[in-house]
Amino acid sequence: MPFCGGDRLREAYRRAQAERFAFMANNVAEPNILIGLLEASTEARSDLLVQISPGAAKFAGGGDKRAGLRGLSALIRELAAPYPICVFINLDHFTRGEMELIEEAIEDRLVSSIMIDASQEAFEENIRLSRAVAEAAAGTGILIEAELGKIKGVEDEISSDEALYTDPDEAVEFVERTAADLLAISVGTQHGVSKGRDLELRVDLAAKIRDRLAAAGLDAPLVLHGTSGLLPEQVQEMIGYGICKLNKDTHYQYVYGRTATEFFAEHATDILPPEGVEDDVGNLFARGDWSPNKKAFDPRAVGAEIQARVREIAHALIEQAGSSGKTLWEAREDQQ
Ligand code: G3H
Ligand code: ZN
Repeated sequence: MPFCGGDRLREAYRRAQAERFAFMANNVAEPNILIGLLEASTEARSDLLVQISPGAAKFAGGGDKRAGLRGLSALIRELAAPYPICVFINLDHFTRGEMELIEEAIEDRLVSSIMIDASQEAFEENIRLSRAVAEAAAGTGILIEAELGKIKGVEDEISSDEALYTDPDEAVEFVERTAADLLAISVGTQHGVSKGRDLELRVDLAAKIRDRLAAAGLDAPLVLHGTSGLLPEQVQEMIGYGICKLNKDTHYQYVYGRTATEFFAEHATDILPPEGVEDDVGNLFARGDWSPNKKAFDPRAVGAEIQARVREIAHALIEQAGSSGKTLWEAREDQQ
């Protein structure tokens, strides 16, 4: 079963820390991006971390977050089954409003890890909520990621107009008191379309946080959100300072939109009626001579293009993260 739980994920992060690489944590809301990621990760011999945000769950469930979360988790686990890599599922940016869903995901082992995002709350309340989730997951193996600081920009249902950089002193207290397994830090990256060249990246802060945690005997892997706009050299630098998880959503969304735009522009005359032909969508043009071309408008046609393009981009991103060739899958005899 290539869907792997938190115990294996912990092992994967340990290895990433020891060998100085990271995992791209990729948001999914539908199958095309997921399939592109599964193909690329398998070819690269990299384990794959996919994540579901509350907004993605809501979308996939036609407005019903619970149905969408259960549906996406089942889809990922089913599609992952034949691929010879470990596939991990993370809940991304789940907040105090989704506590019941978090409990259900833990209870039914729908995921490998969960991010509780209480970064919008005051310090004490952030600790209280994050700790509550860590306690709920205790003994299940499911890992908990908590965030300290604020990431600027918009990611689904989370938005912040300002960046609040993580305080290294607070980071130690935060990890100790929440018992979080992973710490998401704010060091100048932004959610959404951002430009690496213009960001005020504080790599020094990432290093300080890592050092303070280590001095306190804490080895929580660090997580960087909002990495879509980062330049490859910035990613490398961040990995050097202890980042093990690089969250990515916007980049794939762009690849999706770009591929669809190009595909439909190229096939516009197969789909749109020419001048002078009645626009009879209601009857699928059954009364006239002109017909649209099913090879162009079948969603699977554009879907296949999207899968191929995501696969290509994911290859480059896996290389950047350094996780290629590092899959844990073959390392275990009981799985061969
Ligand atoms: O949690 C998801 C990521 O932080 C998304 O970041 O907008 O740069 O892709 P991004
Ligand atoms: Zn994020």
